[in-house]
Amino acid sequence: VHPPSFQMEGSSLDRENCRAKGGAPGFKVAILGAAGGIGQPLAMLMKMNPLVSLLHLYDVVNTPGVTADISHMDTGAVVRGFLGQPQLENALTGMDLVIIPAGIPRKPGMTRDDLFKINAGIVRTLCEGIAKCCPSAVVNLISNPVNSTVPIAAEVFKKAGTYDTKRLLGVTTLDVVRANTFVAEVLGIDPREVDVPVVGGHAGVTILPLLSQVKPPCTFTAEEFSNLTTRIQNGGTEVVEAKAGAGSATLSMAFAAAKFADACMRALRGDAGVVECAFVASQVTELPFFASKVRLGRSGVDEIFPLGPLSEFERVGLEKAKKELKESIHKGVSFIRNA
Ligand code: NAI
Repeated sequence: VHPPSFQMEGSSLDRENCRAKGGAPGFKVAILGAAGGIGQPLAMLMKMNPLVSLLHLYDVVNTPGVTADISHMDTGAVVRGFLGQPQLENALTGMDLVIIPAGIPRKPGMTRDDLFKINAGIVRTLCEGIAKCCPSAVVNLISNPVNSTVPIAAEVFKKAGTYDTKRLLGVTTLDVVRANTFVAEVLGIDPREVDVPVVGGHAGVTILPLLSQVKPPCTFTAEEFSNLTTRIQNGGTEVVEAKAGAGSATLSMAFAAAKFADACMRALRGDAGVVECAFVASQVTELPFFASKVRLGRSGVDEIFPLGPLSEFERVGLEKAKKELKESIHKGVSFIRNA
């Protein structure tokens, strides 16, 4: 028997169920790590999303306050809070989409891989809960190092017999968001008009922006090509250093995660032509996981697009990215298989 979620003042369970079931069709979304730097603004953005009917906020600290706060927003989604491991199963039961920003962020001088020790265990526990309580939910995994945590999640789901490659997605949207912004700055245009595919993975050299495929079509000098690539790969570190010990990107990440979750929900309800970059089980390269453009549909990832023609600079970058990615994937897989 698990303790119930805490209810916000004035909201009875009956009324919540009635709104969640009887109101406009919507998705049931859980955020795990909802009280964190990413989790809080992400919770706010999801509460603003009309596609969400029920929003579960789970963390090991501070969810009562965050839930009370968010629940006062006069938007449609019903909000419930869940605190601590004993409430994890209630937080997950019945969810359509689970977004995971739980875990420690980087400090200056740290790589994403330095987070492995702590975050690997957190992701394992949370994914065991998903396998048990909402095995057909779509999972958006944000916790770093994404290049290893996605393989960890896959192994946990395999062990539980619930693995569906179409429903597990590592969130790399922030790399695309940054790439669009930095490229727009160089071109002197609105970032909303720019589309830069970013492939590979989500750490250092594994982040591979395909600047030869930017839309609208444009050309860069060799120097711009190189500088933009480096800036996109180090965008996270730029924020970590500016925050000087207070963490990594949270607001831009929440924006990116909300954008990605919205794309997943639009695809789940049947919208056509929803294409995003994500780190998924893939046959685009010889590696078992790779980030590239994917078409999302009613059951998650419907189609994975090939990389398309690469420039020489990008071909070199791809080889570097694959080398590091292979090790990070192996590290994640081994964490579960050798446990
Ligand atoms: P934070 O420390 O502000 O928040 C993390 C939250 O996770 C905290 O509230 C903490 O209590 C919670 N948490 C810890 N253990 C938990 C557990 N077992 N179950 C549920 N919640 C738990 O960190 P922040 O800045 O929100 O970053 C979170 C993660 O996202 C980090 O791993 C970070 O590296 C990653 N990240 C990923 C990005 C991406 O592009 N995929 C971009 C930026 C950050």
